[in-house]
Amino acid sequence: MSDLISTQDLTKRFDGLVAVNQVNFSLQEGQVAGIIGPNGSGKTTLFNLLSGFFPPSAGRITFCGKDITKIPPHKRVGMGMARTFQLVSVFDSLTVWENLVLSTIRFKRDQQSVQSFFFAPARKRIVVDDCLKSLELVGLEKKASARTSELSYGEKRMLEIAIGLSLKPRVLLLDEPLSGLSDHEIGGVLDLIHRVKKNFALVIIEHKISKIVSVVKKLSVMNEGKILCEGDPEQVLRDPAVRECYWGKEEENCST
Ligand SMILES: Nc1ncnc2c1ncn2[C@@H]1O[C@H](COP(=O)(O)OP(=O)(O)OP(=O)(O)O)[C@@H](O)[C@H]1O
Ligand SMILES: [Mg+2]
Repeated sequence: MSDLISTQDLTKRFDGLVAVNQVNFSLQEGQVAGIIGPNGSGKTTLFNLLSGFFPPSAGRITFCGKDITKIPPHKRVGMGMARTFQLVSVFDSLTVWENLVLSTIRFKRDQQSVQSFFFAPARKRIVVDDCLKSLELVGLEKKASARTSELSYGEKRMLEIAIGLSLKPRVLLLDEPLSGLSDHEIGGVLDLIHRVKKNFALVIIEHKISKIVSVVKKLSVMNEGKILCEGDPEQVLRDPAVRECYWGKEEENCST
């Protein structure tokens, strides 16, 4: 199977700190991959590089066979790369439906999408259908007209995921989708991941390793900006270097 995403010696420096250090990461079409690692090991920075939020200091990123290293974030979304944020990022002052539709038309693949949404009925119907489907998938369809500020944190996270789903991604990058959620809400997100994973590739950054180990087919462990170890999740978690770097420092985080 061909690589959907691959990075070559991807590096990000912040002054003296090398947050991502010569990372060679790859993801196949349809694959579900997990990234774990201690706090500050470079996981979110790697997502920021993949999604174009930061320019790399060195290295290359290929997506769908194209070099996207210098392509801006919105164009990467247009190519099929969607992401969520470690801290949920939705507009509290808008309704659930407004958040969804506005984000979706903003990022739809063709440049004319905002105009075509308002002036082309067929176009509008497609966007509305996609948004409705994703709201139903995450179970928020009854809250479509609620103000987003009224949602629980878990519901806001579901809304953020719904925005990603409505973009019909080829890959969805989820940055700690379970953090801050109750056990019940965690169950809901995991169930959703199981239901959608056949449709596109997923990369999940997560500290709650035990929750994602059965979902991911490949696990990468980051430490101090580098990929320390990667491969079959069970094998990776047995690796003595992984146990030392991760469990040594983060036992409480990892065990939940
Ligand atoms: N915009 C920035 N400017 C300066 N330093 C940054 C910036 N973003 C991240 N860093 C630093 O880069 C390193 C990696 O941070 P990053 O957020 O990628 O870690 P992480 O693995 O996601 O950690 P966590 O598990 O706590 O979310 C940290 O030392 C962090 O302080
Ligand atoms: Mg992070």
